[in-house]
Amino acid sequence: MTDANILSVEELTVRFGAVTAVDGVSLTVAPGERVALLGHNGAGKSTLFKTVLGFLKPAAGRLSIGGVIPGSDAARRAVSYLPEQVAFPKALTGAEILTHFARLKGVSPKAALPLLEVVGIADAARRAVGTYSKGMRQRLGLAQALIGAPRLLLLDEPTSGLDPVSRREFYDVLEASSRAGTAVLLSSHSLSEIENRIDRIAILAKGKLRAEGALSDLSRRAGLPIRIRIEAAEGRVEAVHAYLGGERVNGRSVVVTCRAEDKVAALARLAELGSDVADIDIALPDLDDVYRHYSGLTVEGATQ
Ligand SMILES: Nc1ncnc2c1ncn2[C@@H]1O[C@H](COP(=O)(O)OP(=O)(O)OP(=O)(O)O)[C@@H](O)[C@H]1O
Ligand SMILES: [Mg+2]
Repeated sequence: MTDANILSVEELTVRFGAVTAVDGVSLTVAPGERVALLGHNGAGKSTLFKTVLGFLKPAAGRLSIGGVIPGSDAARRAVSYLPEQVAFPKALTGAEILTHFARLKGVSPKAALPLLEVVGIADAARRAVGTYSKGMRQRLGLAQALIGAPRLLLLDEPTSGLDPVSRREFYDVLEASSRAGTAVLLSSHSLSEIENRIDRIAILAKGKLRAEGALSDLSRRAGLPIRIRIEAAEGRVEAVHAYLGGERVNGRSVVVTCRAEDKVAALARLAELGSDVADIDIALPDLDDVYRHYSGLTVEGATQ
């Protein structure tokens, strides 16, 4: 299999005895692309990573890492992995650990050590990892994964336990790597944290790929309603409600919903209310709504 993708997964099925953990999944990742794998606990995310790494054998389907099979020497050189639970020997310093992994990958430690700066833990380079906070260990894990500028970076829930600032810095580092051509496949439970930081999303549920595409496309395809909240002028809430219908909330406001394509028409109708309207707030479907929609069991195109 030769193609422009660094990762091609076709109709992949992975089983543990009677449990089908990954069920006919097809997915590609191109160089420089950042793809997020989302799914509930047990959806099959870690299993997919481990199969791409060659740790698990598929029951069916095909996998290619830039034209070579998982687990081969060429694949091992191309792929880096940050496991879900990263554990380093506590007595070693960050610099020692990075040096160790650099040697394993055949990269000079001198070239690898600046990664501690990249991930923001250069100050702690000479401290034992046992004294690191969870976020610092996670950052060291990322530095380890970035050694040797891999062609494909597999990150299993890399931001779990990170505070919001650390998350932002984490995605900044990923962005720089992807600009340099590294393909990134990461798993996460949170759609909202990856907004604007990821090129494409793949949603897994019960081992099956439920949806795949850019967040904006998924959001549009989900066709979820827009909520418009109208705050009525003093004493006018009855009139506004009578005219618009919808739902009354907290004595002063009315909430109506409409489809995305009807938004302008809905606003035009509101304009007719003139000074009866004190304020308007428009809420687009939020990311959790989109995620719930696709990971639920009633999804277009999904086989039940
Ligand atoms: N070694 C194993 N032996 C048996 N079953 C397994 C094994 N590893 C995973 N499974 C099963 O495969 C399914 C998928 O698990 P997986 O770890 O891939 O999920 P996940 O999406 O990574 O979940 P989480 O968000 O909790 O990390 C689950 O039903 C799990 O119980
Ligand atoms: Mg997992």
